[in-house]
Amino acid sequence: MRKVIITVVLTLAAVAAFFYFAIVRQGFSVRTKPSEIEEFLIEQARNLATPPADKNMKNPHAETPQGMAQAREHWVDHCAVCHGLDGKGQTDIGRNQYPPVPDMTKEDTQEMTDGQIYSTIVNGVRFSGMPAWGNEHTAEQSWRLVSFIRHLPKLTPDELKQMQPMAAGKQGEHQHQAGEQVPHTHTHPPGTPPRKH
Ligand code: HEC
Repeated sequence: MRKVIITVVLTLAAVAAFFYFAIVRQGFSVRTKPSEIEEFLIEQARNLATPPADKNMKNPHAETPQGMAQAREHWVDHCAVCHGLDGKGQTDIGRNQYPPVPDMTKEDTQEMTDGQIYSTIVNGVRFSGMPAWGNEHTAEQSWRLVSFIRHLPKLTPDELKQMQPMAAGKQGEHQHQAGEQVPHTHTHPPGTPPRKH
């Protein structure tokens, strides 16, 4: 019982500190980085919000060259705009939103279970820019993306090269809107897909 009370008091203190630092001190601007306490609270909330059954789901699709090729194409079309071709999140949109996109090659993402990654893709992340893809993708497509995310820390320069022309819209069979303009060049950090304006 004492333990429960202490946990509740500590949680309330953390929430109060969060509101003080995150909102009173910093306002609602997204131009600051989330504080550690904020990241901690968000992670706890996310863990609590992921049903254990989702967490323990196993990827039903073995990694195959075709599956990975399909996942690369999806990644380029739907994810790279925020997460970058290499998953490091160094894109204009990804790093300037709040919370910023994580570097997916790092432990924080790689330590998530396959089921957690899958359910993040399907359901999105509330109060962040991460959309839910459950209505756009089949379950197989989302699982293929889980395999691709697992592969990100080992992404080879050759694979990155293969993805660049897809990002420039020269390949791939996805439909794009009529009237889309040919991409033009600016300087962007490495790993950023050339974008259309
Ligand atoms: C509009 C920008 C945007 C797009 C497009 C986007 N994401 Fe995200 N994604 C985010 C943000 C922001 C976060 C961080 C949320 C957070 O901090 O809780 C995120 C987080 C994630 C995470 C959790 C990683 C972690 O360590 O917490 C996964 C997995 C993910 N995205 C996969 C994808 C996939 C796969 C796609 C494409 C199908 C995609 N995202 C498209 C913005 C985006």
